[in-house]
Amino acid sequence: MSRIAYVNGRYLPQRDAAVHVEDRGYQFADGVYEVCEVRGGRLIDERRHIERLQRSLSELRIALPMSLAALGIVLHETVRRNRVRDGIVYLQITRGVAKRDHAFPVADTPPSVVVTASRIDPARTERVAAEGIAVVTLPDNRWDRVDIKSIALLPNVLAKQLAREQGAREAWFVAPDGTVTEGASSNAWIVTTGNEVVTRKADRSILRGITRTVLLDVLRAQGLILVERAFTVAEAIGAREAFITSASQTVMPVVRIDGQPVGNGAPGLIASALRADFHRHSEKS
Ligand code: PDD
Repeated sequence: MSRIAYVNGRYLPQRDAAVHVEDRGYQFADGVYEVCEVRGGRLIDERRHIERLQRSLSELRIALPMSLAALGIVLHETVRRNRVRDGIVYLQITRGVAKRDHAFPVADTPPSVVVTASRIDPARTERVAAEGIAVVTLPDNRWDRVDIKSIALLPNVLAKQLAREQGAREAWFVAPDGTVTEGASSNAWIVTTGNEVVTRKADRSILRGITRTVLLDVLRAQGLILVERAFTVAEAIGAREAFITSASQTVMPVVRIDGQPVGNGAPGLIASALRADFHRHSEKS
């Protein structure tokens, strides 16, 4: 079955789906995106993803290109047409097509909208989670508005490639003060030897992950202690557990950091319990 993409009002076979060469997303990375988990054919935490999308758009002064109701229909319809039961739906909105000029185009330029959906084999993700993943660390060289989910991801791309070349699945960005900010496409967490669950405060230095937000509810329900503070790479290596969160992986245990084992080198009990409980607390639509 060929995949279907939504592009500016039309559902097209993905091989024929394209944006204009002067799309500002293509030329300037002038746009935002969201990735929403699809599970059992339903969208996970759609409402929160759309809220964050609206914030990203407003920070960049890009207009919402259609009503929220219409956007919701497009997301669900793209999932349906691709028969995705488990996977992700990807939404990208850019400032539209205009003759190349760095400053904004005229105000009535319609934003471009692309939606795609892809399958992810849940059994495969579970196998990865059962083993845990390795991460590598590198200096955080991103701009100072990474709280906006913009499509300008070059540092993240290079970080992920570095991870892959070193046999790791994720890269953690490290601020000049030695603290971990977040992953190339995930938020970073540790569990201390005192069983405190630690993650960085969601200020402008990280993306406020939707998975992170929902996990705060899971922690509360499990009676765990949350501490929102920065942690160093050394502290993470010496921690009892480490894990990452993102829409496509929910809670993924981290078992190695820069080649060093975390805890006993196996997925932690708390990370695994949080992973198992996550979808009881997420919204389905
Ligand atoms: N990434 N931090 C960064 C830099 C991210 O790119 C992501 C998500 C997160 C976690 O956010 P959430 O829990 O809302 O997925 C944190 C998506 C999945 C991606 O780029 O594919």
